[in-house]
Amino acid sequence: MNVKTLLASAALATAAFGFAAHAESDNPTIQARQQAMKTIGQNFKIVGDTAKGTMEFDAAAIQAALTTISETAATVPTLFEEEVVDAESDASDDIWANWDDFVSKAEALQAAAADASGMVSSADDLGAVMGSVGGACGACHKPYKL
Ligand code: HEC
Repeated sequence: MNVKTLLASAALATAAFGFAAHAESDNPTIQARQQAMKTIGQNFKIVGDTAKGTMEFDAAAIQAALTTISETAATVPTLFEEEVVDAESDASDDIWANWDDFVSKAEALQAAAADASGMVSSADDLGAVMGSVGGACGACHKPYKL
């Protein structure tokens, strides 16, 4: 992929994750997993905004964001283990019907973010990061997020 394609996919990924806020679930299990996703989303936004140039490049901030994404992704299997959905949840029942695949997609995000944190030395590297990390978000959201 060339830089233009990567930046276009970065913009798409950022747009795709600009979710409208919905009412808060009163179920603590759902709250915890949505909170983890919010943390992942906020940190991914730091990478995306820097890739777009609306945030100044700060290598330490990018490293920290990618580490947080990786560490939070590691908690996803545990946070989603209990099969529970309600009107405020966007989790698909398919998660629990395809549990091993869901876990492998959480592991893929964990690995993509960890790998990416070692390869960022300038803003020019962020297009590739948006592609690999953003790709891991989409690979799970497409089948498993309503
Ligand atoms: C292993 C699967 C998986 C991966 C990987 C994943 N997500 Fe999610 N995400 C989900 C599911 C499932 C939901 C819906 C959870 C619910 O509503 O109960 C969700 C919800 C969200 C939400 C909405 C949270 C809220 O406020 O309710 C955001 C934001 C989000 N994800 C961002 C991301 C970003 C950014 C990435 C990649 C850096 C990512 N996710 C990677 C499965 C995943």
